[in-house]
Amino acid sequence: MKKPGSQVTIAMDGPAGSGKSTVARRIAEKLGLLYLDSGAMYRAVTLLAIQEELAADNPKLIDRVKACHIEFTDNGRTILLDAEDVSKQIRTPAVNRLVADVAKIPEIRREIVKHQQRIGAEGSIIAEGRDLTTIVFPNADFKFYLDASVTERAKRRLADLQAQNIDATLAAVEAEIRERDEKDTTREHSPLRAADDAIIVDTTDKAIEDVVDFIAHVCENKQGRERRRGF
Ligand code: DC
Repeated sequence: MKKPGSQVTIAMDGPAGSGKSTVARRIAEKLGLLYLDSGAMYRAVTLLAIQEELAADNPKLIDRVKACHIEFTDNGRTILLDAEDVSKQIRTPAVNRLVADVAKIPEIRREIVKHQQRIGAEGSIIAEGRDLTTIVFPNADFKFYLDASVTERAKRRLADLQAQNIDATLAAVEAEIRERDEKDTTREHSPLRAADDAIIVDTTDKAIEDVVDFIAHVCENKQGRERRRGF
């Protein structure tokens, strides 16, 4: 998916809580790129399954995915499912519980990947998720893999929940993250892994601003393929 002229593709993968959504959004603003939250698309399809009472492995869900219309507005901040704003609904516990099961269905992945590649062909983009560097944009100009320790990721998630006045304990959040990691990294189709040519960024002890500055610096100085040392 090479694009003409000066268009740039930045692909970023990593586990839940590694900071990639926050970092990708800020890079998008800083460098004036389109932001693609690929997880939101799997979440929207999961919402569709819940609304239409279809199990993740029901073949009717695949037909529905082919027929539905998913669109981002407000530079990736708002997601529309068949013209309805579902940005909040895709973050509910019901969707959290089911999304990994929907995301492991190969025919669903195939449809979503095609859609992501179409969005990517429209202009310069930063896209984040689990298979952006390996499957969706294997020829991306820049590839990053963000990671952090499980405890650090659990602390971040707990802070998010507390900010929303949702009760939770660190132990429970950590257990949930371990379970998600296990599902994301061991599934048969497009498991989460760092691409061989991705720059590994460990965000455990780093401020978001420092990670953003590092990634922006690499991209602005075109150090992508040559720089594998990580940060
Ligand atoms: O990043 P997130 O938590 O919004 O992702 C939701 C789910 O979707 C998660 O279980 C992993 C899956 N996902 C995926 O399989 N491939 C992607 N490119 C992005 C997310």
